[in-house]
Amino acid sequence: MGQLNLILVGPPGAGKGTQADRLRGDFDLPYYATGDILRAAVKEESELGREAKAYMDKGDLVPDALICKVIMERVDSTEAADGFLLDGFPRTQGQADVLNDALERRGRKLTAALQIDVPDEEVIRRLSGRRTCVKNGHNYHVEFDPPKNEGVCDQDGSRLIQRDDDKPETVRHRLDVFHEQTKPLVDYYEKKGLLRHFDGERPPGEVHAHIRATLATLQLEEKL
Ligand code: AP5
Repeated sequence: MGQLNLILVGPPGAGKGTQADRLRGDFDLPYYATGDILRAAVKEESELGREAKAYMDKGDLVPDALICKVIMERVDSTEAADGFLLDGFPRTQGQADVLNDALERRGRKLTAALQIDVPDEEVIRRLSGRRTCVKNGHNYHVEFDPPKNEGVCDQDGSRLIQRDDDKPETVRHRLDVFHEQTKPLVDYYEKKGLLRHFDGERPPGEVHAHIRATLATLQLEEKL
């Protein structure tokens, strides 16, 4: 089968993590979510976590140098040799350039940038109701995607909590950061012919079906 080197792009709360959870099983892709990696580092109180925490708490991006190293080690790993799914990276033009140059040097290229479109007001509604499991970061929404038992993860039985950066004032700031620093990447990938848009306001199952069908086609094209 053709190699799938994929990135998920979209505002906070677009449903990137929700879709990634489903897609990684469909296509057996190693999945690297920068937010999850950074939150784990904060929890472990590693050097990376200590450096990243203050930026994350405010809803700012951590510096490119910090995150690029972390993600490129994973892209270069043996498990990602036949493809990968990145969630939350790249988020700045500098990060996009690092990824592009690194792939080029290794004779690889990005297959597609999967953009999940959701308006700002929907982002605010979603993040205020999001609950995340403490063990593996599985996502729920109290209204749109509730767990079977309140406060308990369906998949691993762990406790569901609200993320610190999902407070309303921090969500607004994260949206501003997205519009200023990450949105320009949409044009960048559009010009490269790599952008695929998905309507993130559809129910999660429909968004998933649409992305999955697009990826199946791309995978066949890569094979030809
Ligand atoms: P990160 O964890 O990546 O946060 P984010 O991009 O803001 O994305 P979210 O995880 O908030 O949202 P999502 O799109 O995954 O949505 P979800 O599926 O959860 O980053 C956190 C921080 O880390 C950043 O602020 C920054 O400090 C730092 N960082 C990370 N990467 C970095 C980088 N590259 N450079 C520098 N700094 C970096 O869904 C949201 C909610 O909506 C859930 O409740 C879900 O159940 C619900 N939902 C999902 N889909 C639907 C649907 N279709 N309909 C209705 N509800 C839905």
